[in-house]
Amino acid sequence: MESREYIKMFEAEDAHWWFVSKRKFAEVLLSAAKQSGPLKILDVGCGTGAMSVFLQQYGSVVSMDFSELALSFCKKRNLRQVCRGDALQLPFMEDSFDVVTVFDVLYHQWIKDDVLALKEFHRILKPNGKLLVTDSAFSFLSGKHDQFVLARERYTVEQMEVRLKQAGFQVCKKSYAFFFTFPVVLMVRLIERFRDKVQTDVSLPSPFVNQFFLKVITLEALLLRYIQFPWGSSILILAEKKQRMDWKN
Ligand SMILES: C[S@@+](CC[C@H](N)C(=O)[O-])C[C@H]1O[C@@H](n2cnc3c(N)ncnc32)[C@H](O)[C@@H]1O
Repeated sequence: MESREYIKMFEAEDAHWWFVSKRKFAEVLLSAAKQSGPLKILDVGCGTGAMSVFLQQYGSVVSMDFSELALSFCKKRNLRQVCRGDALQLPFMEDSFDVVTVFDVLYHQWIKDDVLALKEFHRILKPNGKLLVTDSAFSFLSGKHDQFVLARERYTVEQMEVRLKQAGFQVCKKSYAFFFTFPVVLMVRLIERFRDKVQTDVSLPSPFVNQFFLKVITLEALLLRYIQFPWGSSILILAEKKQRMDWKN
């Protein structure tokens, strides 16, 4: 990702409605992964660290990213277990973690083979361990922002489900997210196509707009506990490691 995107992400992710909403959605899905004791969690592609800070309420969190700049921001957040690593070749032993989280990482150009990355998550998860994936949805929503963050592709829930199964996972819960804000995103993407100068999506909007979207998404997160949304600008999947796989065969 371009350096200025990490800086903008660090500045916006505590308060921007989109980042706060992502934590609300993750909370819903992680309620299914809770166990009696604290969880051992790996946050792959942790970026500038806000999601890792949020995850600490569930147990001990290892924050891993490919970018040194991202990791320097994580250290500013006082995250203790921070390491550099590639999602395609994880520096961890088999059966090491209860939960692996991958928030908006698999779509990145640095992920040359997403199924290979999913197989790596499968390898390091304990039996019945959970994988939580969020990512960008629908290629027709692709815009300038995708270029700024070096996006390779956007997914449908079905595409991700097929890849998860190829890697040995069983899907527990799946949905689209940002359903209520989808028409706005669609409109913005269409308008962008007719404008030369386009800003990144990461800048903080006015407090009124920010609060409004946050309220709308709080309602959506509440509904997500009971239903799955048929479309949205992100995908959201919780999957479980069911069986050991021998990838050499
Ligand atoms: C859009 S950011 C998401 C950051 C964070 N997960 C969040 O949701 O706020 C994508 C992150 O994935 C990281 N990344 C991309 N490819 C990676 C790879 N192969 N291994 C580890 N991290 C990677 C990037 O450096 C970037 O920090």
